[in-house]
Amino acid sequence: MAGPNNDARAGRNDVETMDLTQVKQPLAIAARPFIEARGVSRAFTVNGKRLVVFDDLSCAVAEGGFLSIIGPSGCGKSTLLKLIAGLDTPTGGEILFRGERILGPADGMIYVFQQYTKSIFPWRTVIQNIEFGLSSHKSLPRARARERCMEYVKLVGLDGYENHYPYQLSGGMQQRVVIARALIREPAVLLMDEPFSAVDALTRALLQELILKIWSSIKVTILFVTHDVEEAVFLSSHIISLTKSPASIDENLDVDLPYPRDPIATRADPRFTVLRQRLFSSIFLREKGIAPEARG
Ligand SMILES: Nc1ncnc2c1ncn2[C@@H]1O[C@H](COP(=O)(O)OP(=O)(O)OP(=O)(O)O)[C@@H](O)[C@H]1O
Ligand SMILES: [Mg+2]
Repeated sequence: MAGPNNDARAGRNDVETMDLTQVKQPLAIAARPFIEARGVSRAFTVNGKRLVVFDDLSCAVAEGGFLSIIGPSGCGKSTLLKLIAGLDTPTGGEILFRGERILGPADGMIYVFQQYTKSIFPWRTVIQNIEFGLSSHKSLPRARARERCMEYVKLVGLDGYENHYPYQLSGGMQQRVVIARALIREPAVLLMDEPFSAVDALTRALLQELILKIWSSIKVTILFVTHDVEEAVFLSSHIISLTKSPASIDENLDVDLPYPRDPIATRADPRFTVLRQRLFSSIFLREKGIAPEARG
């Protein structure tokens, strides 16, 4: 899992890996995880009935990691992400970011909502949507701001569409706008809740490639919620698989597949198949009520 000793990006084509300051990083991480949930509990009471989503859940995320959270519907994936984002408060335990307890939305963390159609401004063009992210982050002279927005337009492959309005774009393109608007704020952590679930399979594969390209070129830690085991294995350096409520961590593993990942070759790697199979069968069998010890 996102063990504190892991340099999650080891093995990637990254010029920064030659920088000696980067070599020191894992030692710093070992002393203090980047994000840490310690004995976290969250319960809701609805119509007098109490639902314990988690009770005493602990996990850690290394800086620069790509952690996916998977598990059956309703197990608490979004709840966990919202707690980490500081959009919700645990009923017990604590969540730390850079060693500080999270008490509300933390500087440096950006939450990307699943329903991009609700978070994109329909009355603004692509570049104006991205500009909004920049203006809430820093103030730059107009020409420099435009130039910077164009860098992000290009990063997400929307050059040529900068003056289009959202209704003139496909779903996948709109999701790219939302990603660019989040990234221009230079977050240390990007929290994404099923960000690609509303697009078709091919667009999804292209967006997966894009997010890995961005992750490899920008210093950002990604926490990614998905119900799609294959997507989690393809993207992640680490995966946490949650059981049904009250959720506990069923699997907590490193993904032993080299970066950069290729949409075709990586999926053909026998290690990919083994991991996907292991995670899928554990979720599926638990969902059907088959005890883990009976799984063989
Ligand atoms: N604000 C709330 N009030 C009451 N119950 C809630 C609230 N938010 C979440 N829950 C409950 O907590 C449980 C976990 O919900 P959550 O949205 O985290 O699940 P999830 O794993 O993200 O599911 P899905 O895969 O369907 O998105 C569910 O039973 C849900 O009904
Ligand atoms: Mg959810």
